[in-house]
Formats: sequence, structure tokens, C-alpha cells
Amino acid sequence: MSDHLRDLRDQYTRTLHDYLLEGGEKNLHRAYELGRRALADGLGVLEMVSLHCDAQATVAGTIGAREEMSALIKSAATFFAEAASPFEMAHRGFREADVSLRQSEERFRTLVENAKDVIYTLSTDGAITSVNPAFETITGWAITDWLGKSFAPLVHPEDLPVALVFFQRVLRGETLPIFELRVLKKSGDYLHAEFTKTPLVKGGQVVGVLGIGRDITERKRSQAALRRMNQTLEEEAKRIAHALHDEAAQLLASVYIALEGVSRDLPPSAGRKLQKVKTLLDPIEAHLRQLAHELRPTILDDLGLIPALEFLAQGVSQRANLQVTVGGQQVGRLPTSVETALYRIVQEALNNACRHAKASRATIRLEQNGRLIRCVVSDDGIGFDVPAVVNRKGHTGLGLTGIRERLNAIGGDYRIISAPGQGTTLQVEIPLEAQDATADPVSR
Ligand SMILES: Nc1ncnc2c1ncn2[C@@H]1O[C@H](COP(=O)(O)OP(=O)(O)OP(=O)(O)O)[C@@H](O)[C@H]1O
Ligand SMILES: [Mg+2]
Repeated sequence: MSDHLRDLRDQYTRTLHDYLLEGGEKNLHRAYELGRRALADGLGVLEMVSLHCDAQATVAGTIGAREEMSALIKSAATFFAEAASPFEMAHRGFREADVSLRQSEERFRTLVENAKDVIYTLSTDGAITSVNPAFETITGWAITDWLGKSFAPLVHPEDLPVALVFFQRVLRGETLPIFELRVLKKSGDYLHAEFTKTPLVKGGQVVGVLGIGRDITERKRSQAALRRMNQTLEEEAKRIAHALHDEAAQLLASVYIALEGVSRDLPPSAGRKLQKVKTLLDPIEAHLRQLAHELRPTILDDLGLIPALEFLAQGVSQRANLQVTVGGQQVGRLPTSVETALYRIVQEALNNACRHAKASRATIRLEQNGRLIRCVVSDDGIGFDVPAVVNRKGHTGLGLTGIRERLNAIGGDYRIISAPGQGTTLQVEIPLEAQDATADPVSR
């Protein structure tokens, strides 16, 4: 027996002795305090009972005659009840905590059972240790087909190396960004899913992985459809640009020749007037050429985004009463889908700055931060109430809608900062990772 326990037992015996002789609240209160101390020292109920029995036997030998015994035992029971009440309170606390823990577990279970996303756990060797019913709804497999088995055959072979690297990283305790994988359905098709994974930790050790998978096949399909539509639009723009460039230029050339012919038949004074008409045609031809190039600049395909934006800025500056400058970093060549989308978005932002903003200056800034491309177009014009315009019923403008759709198709996002009288800033962000992911057609 430790010194500490011996001291507790001695004090208990002494206090019981005092109580049996004198009674009194003070001694009962001491009994209660001794009970609390025993609880804090980690004594169990049985040890407490044995402590009391020892003390009672010791005290019974020292006081009173045999006939007093029954009264003494009664008093000792009152004393014990007081000493044991901290245990009773602690146990009641445990019971209540247990009930509320069970209720919260129940709520959590209902949540997991009814979730639309697949929620699952994996052991450290990659076996599926639990998965909710959404797995059956989404993939067509029965849970029992996969419980206890490795997750690996469920992942598209091309995506498996990435999945395994991420799995190991989570086991090392890392929290990962959201990532995408193709998952095998019972039908043999693959669905696109987006995953978040975190380590399952018990007693400070990683014992597995908790994951949530969301079916994003529909989102992928509409992104692919939007991309195809944008490609068709680009091809159409190219066709119109060539028609404008070649045919309109041809037509103007024939107007020149016709005017030449007419001026030869006219008296010199009328010929000079005709000459003026010809000089008016020159800037028209130049503008037509510029517009044809802006519509689908070959510069964009040949030299990339920054030269194309500079060309666009130069054209707008010449045509409209707006000084446009291009700044930022020297960003290298980007995926065609990103370059085309950014060109179109900037083109629309400049159109808006010319048509609505009454701006005198506009700036275009392009930056690359790691795998994130950022493009900001600002003007110093009259600005506008963005929520009011976006929520306007029957909002007829196609510009902002087009910007949103182009970005949706390539996983980008945008923000407009504007207020009446304070100019307008359009901020666009496109993650380059998304380009690899969005490039996959569904169910390869
Ligand atoms: N830079 C800007 N300065 C001031 N107002 C703007 C600016 N950009 C957009 N707006 C406001 O937002 C509205 C919606 O713009 P959006 O580009 O969607 O349509 P639109 O330019 O009116 O028509 P569309 O682009 O189809 O020719 C505009 O009508 C205008 O009121
Ligand atoms: Mg517009």
C-alpha cells in the first residue's frame, strides 16, 4: 500500500471514529471531502468499500459494547453514504455524458447515412473499412462488394499513381487540397469524382484515412459542352475575320478602281472632290483590317496572349477615346483555352469600358502566381452597382454572362469591384491545374 493510500485510510478511520463518538455535520463534511480525495486519487468503488470496511472494523474494536454495535453500524452507514456521494455524482456525470455521446453519435450516423456524398474510411494498408450508402447509389456497387478490400481497383489505372501518392501523404498526416479521380462504376464506366481526405488520428497516431468523394460527372459534362461551344464560336469568329479581311478588302479595292474610272470621266474640279472620297475610304479600310484581326488575331495563336492584348489595346486606344495600357509580368505561353478565354474576357471588359464607363484610361495586368493566372482589367469610369445589374430581371447583356461561362468551362472564377463614380475592376483567376483536369472527356 502506498504512503498516500495509508494516509487516506488513517484519516478515514480517525474521522469515522470521531463521527461515531460525536456525530455532527462537521464530521460528515470531512467524510465527503475524504470521498472526493479518494475519487481524485483514482480509487474505484470496490476499493472505497474495502477502505470503509477496514476502518469500520478498526473503529468497532475500540469503542462501545456489543449492544451498541447495531447503532454504530447505522451511523457508519450514514458516514459511508457521505464519503461515497462524490463517486455517485461522478458516475451520474459519466452516465449523462454517455447518453449525450450516444445521441450525438446517432445524429452523426444519420448525417453520414443520408449524405449525398460518399463518406468512407480506409485502413493504413488501403482497405475500405467503412462506407456510407451513397456509395451504392452513385457507383452501383453493393457496399459488401468492397468492404475490407483495397480501394485501388476502384480507381482508373491512369489516375492510380496520383491516388496512391495522395494516400501516402495523408497517412503522413498532411491535409491535402481537393483533387479529382475517375472511379469505376459497376456498369464498367468511370465517373468523375472530387475528393477531400484527412488523416484519421487515434491516440496521436494516424490509423487510417477519412475521405469524402463527390460525383462531379455532370459538372464535367457541362464544362466539356461549354468548351466545345467556345471552340465552335472561335472557329466561327476566325471564319468571319477572314471574310471581313479578305472580302471586305476586295470590295473596297473594287470601289477604288470604280472611283478611279469615274474620276477619269469627270472634269478636274469634280475629280478633286472624288479624291476626297477616296481619302475617306483609307481609314475605313484600316479599321476594317484592325477589326478583322481583333476578331480572331492570328497574333494570339502565333505569339501568345501578351502581344495579342497589346495589339487589342492599341486598336481600342486608336478607335475609342480610351487610353489602354498593358502591364504585369511576362507570362509565358499558356494553354490555348486559357489564352483564348482571357483574350475574349479582356475584349469584353474593354468594350464595356468604351460603351458604358465614359472612362479615359484602362489598364490590363496579367500575373502568374505559381499555377494561378490572374488578369485584372480596370477603368477609371463611372462604375456601376454590380449586384443591381447582375440581379436585374431580364438582364439582357451577354458580356458578363459570357465571361462567367467562359470561366466555368475552364475552372476559373471572376470578381467585379465597382461602385457608381469609382471605376470598375474585373479580376479573373484561372488555376492551371484545372486545365489538365478539365481536358478529360467523361467516361474514357
Ligand atoms: N466597365 C463598366 N463601367 C460601367 N458600367 C458597366 C461596365 N461594365 C458593365 N457595366 C454595366 O453592366 C451592364 C452589363 O454588362 P454586360 O457586358 O453584361 O452587358 P452589355 O454590355 O450591356 O451588353 P453586351 O455585352 O451583351 O453587348 C452594362 O449594361 C452596364 O450597365
Ligand atoms: Mg458588354
